[in-house]
Amino acid sequence: MISVDFNDRVMIITLTRPDALNALCKKLITQLNAALDQAENDTRIGAIVVTGSGKAFAAGADIAEMKNLTFAEIAEKDFIQPWERLARCHKPVIAAVNGFALGGGCELAMMCDIIYASETAKFGQPEITIGTMPGAGGTQRLTALVGKAKAMELCLTGRMITALEAEAMGLVTRVFKAEDLLKEALATAHKIAQFSAPVVRMIKEAINDVAEVPLISGIKTERRMFHSTFALEDRKEGMSAFLEKRAAVFKNR
Ligand code: CAA
Repeated sequence: MISVDFNDRVMIITLTRPDALNALCKKLITQLNAALDQAENDTRIGAIVVTGSGKAFAAGADIAEMKNLTFAEIAEKDFIQPWERLARCHKPVIAAVNGFALGGGCELAMMCDIIYASETAKFGQPEITIGTMPGAGGTQRLTALVGKAKAMELCLTGRMITALEAEAMGLVTRVFKAEDLLKEALATAHKIAQFSAPVVRMIKEAINDVAEVPLISGIKTERRMFHSTFALEDRKEGMSAFLEKRAAVFKNR
C-alpha cells in the first residue's frame, strides 16, 4: 500500500493504493508508520518526502472501512490516534501533493512540515458531506494555517479548492507543474538533509511549538535551543565555513 525508496539521504514514501485514490485504511497507516520509524532510526536519513500515486495524494480515511464502525468501537480503539505518528516525526517531512488531498488526505499533508503541490492538486475537508467531521487534526491545523474564517467555510461546506487557492491561503508552501513536483520536493529535501541534523530537529521543534505553547514560553524555549546549538561542532563549522568562504562540512555532532 506504500512504497519506500531512497535517494541519497532522503526517504521517499509513496502511497500506492490508486484504485481507492490512496484512501487511508488501517493497513496503509500501519505501513506508513513503520516507514517513519525506519527513517527516524536511520541516521543516514535527513529528510522524508511523502507523495501519492495516480490522481490522488489521498482522498481521505477509508470510507468503506469506516462505514459500519460503531461509536463504541471507535472510541474504545481511539480510532485515528495512530495517524498522529506523522505529526510526531522529528525529521523534516515534505508532502508532495500530486492530486486529491481530501479529508484525512489533507490532514495528512498538514501534519507534514512543508507542502508542495502540483497545479492539478485539489484540497478540501469534505467530511461534512458524508455526515461526519475532520478527525485527524483538520479543524485545528487548518485553522492555524488559514485562519478561522476560511477554515470555517472549508469545513462547513466541504468545498474543494485548487492548489493555487490553497497557496494563497497559506495552506500550501509552493505550487509546481505536475512534472516538476517530485523533482522540486527532492531538491528541497536534499538541501535540508545536508544541514546539521540536530539543528534541523531543533528548528522543526521550535516552529511547531508556536501552535502548542504560549508565545512567551515559546520565545524562551527557542532562545535556549539557539544557545544549545553552540554546543555543536556543526555550529562552529558552519560559521567558520561562512567566514572562510567555503562550503560547510557538517558531521551531525
Ligand atoms: N474511501 C474509500 N474509497 C474511496 C475514497 C475514500 N475516502 N475516495 C475514493 N474512493 C474510491 C471510490 O469509492 C472509487 O472506488 P470504486 O472504483 O471501487 O468505485 C475509487 O476510489 C475512485 O473514486 P471515484 O470514482 O469517486 O473518483 P472520482 O474521480 O469520480 O471522484 C473524489 C474523486 C472527488 C475524490 C471522490 O472519490 C470523493 O469524493 N472521495 C471521498 C472524499 C471524502 O469524502 N473524504 C473524506 C473521508 S472521511 C475522513 O477523511 C475523516 C477524517 O477526517 C479522518
